[in-house]
Parts: sequence; C-alpha cells; structure tokens
Amino acid sequence: MAFRENIVDEIKSRCNIVDVIGRVVVLKKTGGNYKGLCPFHNEKTPSFIVSETRQTYKCFGCGEGGDVIGFVQRYHNLDFQEAVEKLAEQYGISLDTSQFASEGKKNALYEMNREAAAFFYKRFRKDANKANAYMMKRGLDVETLRKFGIGFADDEWDSLWLHLKEKGFAEESLMELGLISQGKKDPTKYYDRFRSRVMFPIINTRGKVIGFGGRTLGDDEPKYLNSPESTVFLKKNNLYGLNLTRQDINREDCAILVEGYMDVISLYQHGIRNVAASLGTALTENQAAMLKRYTKNVVLAYDADAAGQKAALRGVDVLYAAGCKAKVLMIPEGKDPDDYIKLRGKDAFLRLVEEALPLVDFKLHLLKKKTDLKTTEGRISYLQESAAILRALSPMEADAYVGKIAAEAGISEGAIRLEVFGNHNKQRPVNAAPAGDQSTGQKKPEGRRPGRGNDMLERNLIRLALLKGEYIPKIQPYKEVFEKPVHKRIFQLIESLYRGDGEIDLRLLEDSLEDSDRTVLKDILENVRIAGRDKEVFRDCVHHIQSNEKTRREEDIIMRLSLLDDETDRGAIEELTKELMELQKQSGKGDVENGF
Ligand code: UTP
Ligand code: MN
Repeated sequence: MAFRENIVDEIKSRCNIVDVIGRVVVLKKTGGNYKGLCPFHNEKTPSFIVSETRQTYKCFGCGEGGDVIGFVQRYHNLDFQEAVEKLAEQYGISLDTSQFASEGKKNALYEMNREAAAFFYKRFRKDANKANAYMMKRGLDVETLRKFGIGFADDEWDSLWLHLKEKGFAEESLMELGLISQGKKDPTKYYDRFRSRVMFPIINTRGKVIGFGGRTLGDDEPKYLNSPESTVFLKKNNLYGLNLTRQDINREDCAILVEGYMDVISLYQHGIRNVAASLGTALTENQAAMLKRYTKNVVLAYDADAAGQKAALRGVDVLYAAGCKAKVLMIPEGKDPDDYIKLRGKDAFLRLVEEALPLVDFKLHLLKKKTDLKTTEGRISYLQESAAILRALSPMEADAYVGKIAAEAGISEGAIRLEVFGNHNKQRPVNAAPAGDQSTGQKKPEGRRPGRGNDMLERNLIRLALLKGEYIPKIQPYKEVFEKPVHKRIFQLIESLYRGDGEIDLRLLEDSLEDSDRTVLKDILENVRIAGRDKEVFRDCVHHIQSNEKTRREEDIIMRLSLLDDETDRGAIEELTKELMELQKQSGKGDVENGF
C-alpha cells in the first residue's frame, strides 16, 4: 500500500509504545521496563514486558511480541495499513497521500461507489419496491437488510447515471467501476449497468465500498452481475461480509466460509455471525491469509453438489497451505446454507458445523465414496490415492490416519505405511540424467515421489520438443509421464501447434501461455541445455521412462500380491509372480550385484 515513505518511521518515533499500550493495559514500572498482565492470554502474574528504550513489547508467557504497530494490529485485529491509520489518527499525524496520484484516484473511486451504494440503498428503503418485496419474501428482516446496506437498482436505464453525473463524476471512472456502460450505437450515451436488481454492496474491512453484486429479480442471466475488477476491487483480496463479521470470527475463533451473498446474510440473521463468502471465486491465498488474522479455524460450508465439492477440495488445500485448520461441512439435501438454515434452523446448522470433517477426513470421505472397496482393484486404488493424500502431511499427522484407513479399507497397516512413507530402497531414481551429468542423475535421494522427481525428465522432454520438432511425435507416446500440470499444459500446447514437421514458433507458444506458465517455459529454454547432445538426452529420457514404468509395474504387482488371498486367489498369485520374475530378470535384479 502506498504510504508516505517515511510515515512508518514517523509513527514509530511519535507514538511511544508505553503510552499506546498503557491505554489498554495497566503498566507498572519495574527497573528499566514496564510490566503488566498480558492482554493476549489469561494470566494472574504479569509476564508482559514493555521496553521503552527499545520500543518493543514481549510476553514471556505466550511469546507474543513486536513493535508499536504490531501491537495495535494484534490488539485491535487490524492489518498493517489499518494499524498505521489508527495510530496516525490518534496521534494527529497526517497521512496526506494526495501527493500520490494513485491514492487520490482510489479515493475518488471509493467515493463514487459510496455514492452509488447510498443511491441504491435509498431506493430500496423508499416505499414499496420490487427488491424490498423480494428480500422480504426470502425471509430477511429490515434490520439485517439495513446492516448489509442492501439496495435496489431500479428499472430505469439511467437513473443512477443521471444522479452521478450531477455529482460531477467522470464517465471513465464510472465505467471502470462498472456502474455505467457506454452506448453501443451511440458512444456519447451512457446507461446504468445494474438494472432491476437487488444490490449487495461489497465493503472492505476499512469500510470502503469496493464493488457490488446485483441479483436479478427475475430469472435473466447472469443471476448475479458483479462489479468488474478494478483498482479498488480485487476479488482475490476480499471476502464478502468480513467488514461486519470479523470481530465475531475472532471471538468465536472460527470462520464459516460460504459461497454466496445470500448465505452470509441469512446465516447472520439467524445468529451465526462468524461468516464470510469468497465472492464467487475459489478461495485464494490472500483470502486465506486475511482470515487467518482473525482465526485459524475455518469451516467451508459449500453446496454438496459436484461444483461445491470441487471448490471445497481446492479451498482446504489453500487454507492448509496458509496455516489454517480447515474443515468441510457438506450441506445435505442438496441445499445451500441459506436454504438449510431456513428449513432446519440455527441449531441444526450448528450441528453440521460441529460435525464438519477435517481436511484429510473429507478427502478420504470423497475417495471412499467413489471407490468400490469390495474389489481388489478398488482397494488398490483406494490405497494408492489415500497414500497420496497422507503424503502431503507431516509424518506424524499422516501416521494418525494409517489405522483409520486400514480399518476402513481392510488393508494392512503395513501396506499403507509402505505406500505412504515408501520403501526407500525400492524407489528408482526418477530423474532423467542428462548425458554428461551423471553425477547428479545417478543417485538421487531416496523416497522421491512422482511429481517431483520427474521434474528434470519433463523439462528435458519439453526442451527436446522445442529444440527440434521431430522429437514431438517421438515424445507423444510417452506424454503420460508429464505429471506437473504446467508441463502438461505446455506440452499440450506444443502438440497443438505442431504441424507435422518443422519447428515450433516460440513466440506463438509464449503468447499462448498464461504468465506463470510462460515463466516456467522461459526457465526451461534458458536453463535446460542440451544442444549438441540431444540424441543422447532423448535416449536417456526414454531409458528412464521405461525403467520407471517397469519399476512402477513391479511395485504394483508386489502390492497386488500383498492384497491377494493365498487360498482363493491362487491363479492370480501365480500369474503375477511369473510376471514379476520376468520383469526382475529384465532389469537384472535377480542377478548378483556387480556381476560377480
Ligand atoms: P449461487 O448460484 O449458489 O447463488 O451462487 P446463491 O448465493 O444461492 O444465490 P440465491 O440464493 O439464488 O440468491 C453463489 C455465488 O456465486 C456468485 C455469487 O457470489 C453468488 O453469491 N455468482 C453466482 C456470481 O457471481 N454470478 C452468478 O451469475 C452466479
Ligand atoms: Mn441460495
């Protein structure tokens, strides 16, 4: 955020930490420091020390510590910028940012959105209107609607535009905000973009109106029309409702994340106030980081349909990566949170929250649902996929689930452990060793897992395809080896650009890739050097693919054998044993090592 460059220093020098903390904690001078009861945990003997000389605080009971801005952030639940603003205001320090064009412009945009929100809001409150009737019919009360600032975009083509024009706002800015659109036939004409809709203002945690969601009153498309992304509205950085609910989230030490505007409002009205919604997108890293300021416990309450499950699956990973404890609550009966709480009430909803599945249990639950554990095939795939889930955890976390999976799938704990933690000697080095680079290629650390170890191999293959087009059809039979999604995407694009001979147009390829993929491609082009020895590299790659394939098949057979029943599956055991011996002969494994 663009603050005046020296503002942070100025705040730190002008806001004495003893004074700032002294306003909320009783401090007693002891020696050179101040001492008090820590406001961040419960204690009877003071272990909270404030150092005036260092301008820092530290609690020796709970470990909290930092500088004056950090304290204000933590104590009042604010982010850095908000804490700076609060201190500046308290100590009369000017934050005047008008010298910064971007800040000035942003403020102007906020002002326009605020004006529009006020306009919609007034229409909504005024006499009887369709939007008001609609929201009443959906069971919302006046108090809730007022709290969320719900508004009405009327049926006229230009009532908002005329109002904002009168205020002297610039057309370009109003267009950037998505409040008005330019006439297609007559570009000198403007009209309201939101018409005949219930308006949900989206307000950030600093109280600024950053955008709108507008729900149709009929059944035209889209159901929700949203403000476009702009300098003041980045979906990935905001959560709907958080401006009202963050204190509740902090108090409950739990956030319930839902998908829709209506879900937030409805839960809120029913007394479940620790909620927010992710603005119609999959949960982003930034949103997770923002939630974590108020709580580490997040419950995803998504629709139980396929789309909801997919969103939940992605969401839990994002939350886990951000350091949150994610749980998933699947709403039964094909309902969303709003439908459900209206139908079954607050307590029923709270029971669902209580029963929400922790991330791993949720993934295992989905896995179990799609797998037929009665067949050997099913149990094998359950074993493999559940192992993949556990591998993302720390060994201790993973171990806690081994018994559970064993019981559910009727697989021995040993087989699961082997699959999760690996038999370290069994794993082949899966890195393609570029010729001349034997030292790193020969012996890679054990226990490598597919997806990581393949990296070099995949990069080499892409480099080959781009060096000479003739390699593309040669690589195609092996394209299953691309495990990394970005590599997969790049190779797919290469295939689609390949015309049967000649080389790939690198410019065209780059232009067709998303930014992050392009970065990976550039890295490959710059850092994977194979010119002049491409034949050897290709041979090496093929060799590694084949030997990996063989290893995989061997592992697969061994696992199958461990699952089969000595009595009833005799025939299959014999066949698999024969195949295994055959494979081991080929790779020379049956022989004495080193020849003699
Ligand atoms: P839903 O289609 O589940 O709607 O979209 P809903 O929240 O249940 O709304 P009601 O109950 O029918 O009024 C969930 C969320 O996805 C986004 C919105 O944020 C919505 O709240 N969405 C949905 C859009 O942005 N545009 C759409 O056209 C639909
Ligand atoms: Mn709904």
